[in-house]
Amino acid sequence: MLRPVAAFLVVLGGLAAGTPAPALAQGDQGCDLCHGEVELLRQHVPSLAEAERLSVTSSVIAASAHEGESCASCHTGYQRWPHPDGGTTETCVSCHEEAGRLWDSSLHAHPRLDELDPADCASCHGSHDIRWVDELREDDGIRTMNATCVSCHETQAMVPSEPHGDTVSCAGCHAPHGTKGVDDLTAAVAPLAQAATCGACHEEAAEAFPGDAHGAALADADPLALDDLMEAGAEMPATCTSCHGGHGMVAVDDTASLAVHVDACATCHADEADRYFGTYHGKATALGSHVVATCDDCHGAHGIFASAEEASWVHESKLVETCGECHEHAREAFVAYDSHPDPLDPDRNFPLFVTFVFMNALLLGVLVVFGLHTFLWWVRILIDSRRSEATEGSHG
Ligand code: HEC
Ligand code: HEC
Ligand code: HEC
Ligand code: HEC
Ligand code: HEC
Ligand code: HEC
Ligand code: HEC
Ligand code: HEC
Ligand code: HEC
Ligand code: HEC
Ligand code: HEC
Repeated sequence: MLRPVAAFLVVLGGLAAGTPAPALAQGDQGCDLCHGEVELLRQHVPSLAEAERLSVTSSVIAASAHEGESCASCHTGYQRWPHPDGGTTETCVSCHEEAGRLWDSSLHAHPRLDELDPADCASCHGSHDIRWVDELREDDGIRTMNATCVSCHETQAMVPSEPHGDTVSCAGCHAPHGTKGVDDLTAAVAPLAQAATCGACHEEAAEAFPGDAHGAALADADPLALDDLMEAGAEMPATCTSCHGGHGMVAVDDTASLAVHVDACATCHADEADRYFGTYHGKATALGSHVVATCDDCHGAHGIFASAEEASWVHESKLVETCGECHEHAREAFVAYDSHPDPLDPDRNFPLFVTFVFMNALLLGVLVVFGLHTFLWWVRILIDSRRSEATEGSHG
């Protein structure tokens, strides 16, 4: 404490005598003399908060990603005291061109509304205690960076109970520098980019997906039309998030939710879903069973194909195996069972159609006869009671 104070006094002594601004002690130690001493800074600035803001030591830099840099690598013109006007600070971009270029293409550099301040390099990284990327990818680094994102995006915090809530980086899905609006077709979370974005962490799912019926429909979609389709929702070819959701995702073995196993499919395949709910599997699922078949138990999840294709789990050659996962004794006759019955369609399942028509005709017939019978009884009772009233009247 004594040494810096003495040095500072020497410096100030020079000032008092009106001599030209002296050069400071060499290198970062010179800066530390003042910028490492909050009490000294406090004497020259209006508030403690301002003094704390100015407090930056070379040890902070040495522990950061800029360990090899000196104060002067970034700050020019502060070599003398008092600091003359016109000191400049190097921009991050002057040394990190690529990050700068990507950032300049982002919504963070150019928010939609003029009144919003851009989120610049220092908003996310800080200006001095900048961490190495390797540290940013560790649990602690991810939590810190995510908290920084959430400090501006308060409503988008993820809770630890969601699969990505604890230690998955926000920037893993949104890109750290080229962050685009989520409705922008060039965003990392845009339909066509998801296989790559999510696939960086979920290789297996991402490899299977582009080849299946959904991946093919997505690849075939006119990229320009996707813009409209994103609004339309249900007509949108399925992407990872159509089935899994984005924020608020649920783990696939979360028994409390059928979101990904049935509900998601039902938003786009309402007809098949309605008919599924007419079957034993569907009714039991609706009642809360977790052991009967849901959509993906029969069709798969990331390798879904039309039943006519051999790769489909429900191709006729695979049904014994697929149903056999749960029905040990499944044979050809068993798998002829209609998983999506439509009793009104004679072409699809004639016996079912006939049974349906017969049973309903029978039911209707019984109701009509019973109803007529009741009606005639009612008429008779009415007539009887009128008659007896008339007889009582003539007696009275
Ligand atoms: C004798 C004490 C002293 C020394 C030594 C000193 N500074 Fe400062 N510096 C200050 C004070 C006090 C301020 C705030 C008032 C001002 O700007 O003059 C300041 C302001 C600054 C600012 C501007 C901060 C801002 O945004 O307002 C920078 C940058 C800075 N110093 C960098 C340095 C660097 C780099 C060194 C070493 C080469 C250095 N200083 C050495 C006392 C010192
Ligand atoms: C890698 C570049 C870099 C290095 C190295 C660096 N700074 Fe800075 N410094 C910055 C940037 C960027 C800012 C923020 C400027 C702004 O917000 O306008 C800043 C701001 C400051 C400020 C103003 C207070 C603040 O935090 O906004 C002071 C004081 C300062 N630096 C002192 C130092 C000292 C002393 C050292 C050496 C121990 C140092 N800086 C090393 C880049 C650097
Ligand atoms: C004078 C040049 C210079 C300036 C200015 C500068 N940096 Fe650096 N930065 C470096 C060097 C050199 C490294 C060391 C690793 C490397 O080569 O990328 C580095 C490393 C980094 C890293 C870690 C990279 C990694 O691979 O782990 C980040 C993050 C970073 N800088 C961000 C910033 C930010 C944010 C600013 C502005 C506040 C900034 N830098 C200003 C030169 C600079
Ligand atoms: C919205 C927050 C955010 C902003 C704004 C931001 N960064 Fe980053 N930056 C990150 C994250 C997160 C990482 C780590 C990414 C990873 O794990 O690959 C990163 C990584 C880096 C790296 C390491 C190498 C690389 O390019 O991935 C450098 C260097 C860097 N940033 C510099 C900058 C500079 C320079 C700016 C300003 C032009 C900037 N960053 C703006 C969040 C941000
Ligand atoms: C698993 C990938 C993923 C992660 C991790 C993630 N997001 Fe998102 N985010 C999305 C998707 C996809 C959307 C588009 C809307 C939706 O489907 O929920 C989105 C939407 C957003 C939006 C726009 C909200 C709106 O409706 O305008 C913001 C802001 C955002 N996320 C910030 C964050 C922040 C902050 C974090 C970290 C706490 C984060 N995201 C983590 C995928 C992710
Ligand atoms: C300093 C505040 C700030 C920080 C920190 C910040 N952002 Fe942003 N973010 C913004 C602003 C401002 C916009 C532009 C909003 C607009 O144009 O409507 C934005 C836009 C976004 C969007 C697009 C939202 C949309 O409406 O489509 C996403 C996604 C996003 N940020 C994610 C992140 C992530 C991930 C991080 C952390 C790595 C982060 N942000 C850190 C301020 C911030
Ligand atoms: C058509 C709906 C659908 C689409 C599209 C889809 N998934 Fe899935 N995904 C599922 C279902 C259903 C499960 C549950 C499978 C199970 O329980 O065996 C699942 C399981 C998962 C799992 C956890 C278990 C595993 O198989 O690894 C991950 C991770 C996953 N999906 C990621 C993705 C990614 C990444 C994409 C985009 C490339 C994607 N999903 C696209 C429906 C889908
Ligand atoms: C930065 C890496 C990363 C990215 C990017 C990422 N995830 Fe994840 N995801 C994880 C981790 C880690 C978990 C939790 C551990 C696990 O269950 O695999 C997880 C869990 C999941 C689960 C739950 C798995 C289960 O077993 O229940 C699904 C589904 C999932 N992610 C889908 C996605 C989708 C869709 C995207 C893109 C929008 C995506 N993820 C982006 C890392 C990531
Ligand atoms: C966002 C909408 C969407 C979601 C969610 C969705 N699909 Fe699809 N699905 C489509 C589209 C679009 C096609 C391809 C066009 C077509 O042939 O009908 C398709 C094709 C299929 C096919 C092949 C049908 C054929 O005739 O080619 C099956 C089987 C299928 N989906 C089952 C599922 C299952 C099971 C789920 C849930 C795990 C699901 N889908 C989720 C939109 C969706
Ligand atoms: C018990 C197994 C099983 C379950 C559960 C099941 N399906 Fe199917 N699904 C089939 C079989 C077998 C076919 C082919 C024969 C047919 O059309 O019924 C099929 C046909 C389809 C088709 C028509 C395209 C094609 O491949 O022929 C779609 C779309 C479809 N299912 C979606 C769904 C959805 C969505 C769910 C959940 C709501 C679901 N399936 C549940 C077995 C099942
Ligand atoms: C994920 C497991 C699972 C799959 C796959 C599955 N089922 Fe089922 N299914 C069940 C369960 C559990 C029941 C409840 C009754 C039981 O245990 O037999 C059931 C009931 C049935 C029933 C009515 C009750 C009975 O045993 O007669 C029929 C018919 C049936 N399944 C046919 C099929 C056919 C056909 C397939 C293949 C296209 C299939 N199931 C695929 C689990 C499954």
